[in-house]
Amino acid sequence: MPFPVHRMRRMRSTEPLRRLVRETTIEPSDLVLPLFVTEGERVRNPISSMPGNFQLSIDELVQECAECVELGLGGVILFGIPEHKDELASEAYREDGIVQRAVRALKTRYPGLVVITDVCNCEYTSHGHCGKVVDGDVDNDATLEWLAASAVSHARSGADIVAPSDMMDGRVAAIRRALDQAGYVKTPILSYAAKYASVFYGPFREAAESAPQFGDRRSYQMDPPNAREAMREIALDIEEGADMIMVKPAMPYLDILRMARDRFDVPLAAYQVSGEFSMIKAAAASGWLDEQRAMMESLTAIRRAGADVILTYFAREAARLLAGG
Ligand code: PBG
Repeated sequence: MPFPVHRMRRMRSTEPLRRLVRETTIEPSDLVLPLFVTEGERVRNPISSMPGNFQLSIDELVQECAECVELGLGGVILFGIPEHKDELASEAYREDGIVQRAVRALKTRYPGLVVITDVCNCEYTSHGHCGKVVDGDVDNDATLEWLAASAVSHARSGADIVAPSDMMDGRVAAIRRALDQAGYVKTPILSYAAKYASVFYGPFREAAESAPQFGDRRSYQMDPPNAREAMREIALDIEEGADMIMVKPAMPYLDILRMARDRFDVPLAAYQVSGEFSMIKAAAASGWLDEQRAMMESLTAIRRAGADVILTYFAREAARLLAGG
């Protein structure tokens, strides 16, 4: 006879009681803020589809990170927008590329800030694809060399973690081998292991100027209907040496996060991508949703599904709120 002995509402009746039995929490240290870095000085180009986000020159980026340090964010992840794009993504792996210089500036100023670099070619190629295009398709094995070279150049600049996001086969092994050969045995790899060919990357492609000029990314990113395949991708990346794994996007893929959490004992990250962020911002701007509550509920759902770490454009706003501001 469960009722009236059991009354689920008892433990919900006041905020202190609810707080006492809360199963999922978020700390600023769980959150990683994506930032876009561009050439120039005193540049702060607003990204129209992502309110509050900017393409920043290195000096502005350094300033922007002061608050990230103060709030105790888990880290930042950098995306570079080079001045010149070409067929070979040359600026992706140049020692004085935009990301490499940005990492050096950030690590000099804030040695304790975790700086992650996105390792991908799409921001650096003239055609916007994530690798070397041969006969209209991205050539997997040729692309691995670019990725390995980028990762090593990021590590040499002082990156704390390198995060390949291209979905080529074998990239984690190629990057691990190259890092080790170059002496960076301690640089961890955060693999975007289960990254789907998602429409929710739309605003990011404006921000990073990385939309493919022909075709799409479906021959390398995952097909959204597939879940078991994500488990295979993750297992392979762990075998190849991934230290952390990621599921991306986050909220439309909570089932994938839960499956990954239950099967794998490596730290698990989720990327709340640009489209997820922009949807909440747009609905809030129209007065259709309470922005702060939508932000916190979405982040909590992602943590509850199993993510240890969340990459989110809300990182700063959420951390401010958690700090009582
Ligand atoms: C690829 C990359 C993308 C994102 C992160 N890394 C874009 C893509 O795969 O097209 C998307 C992030 C977002 O939408 O917020 N370098």
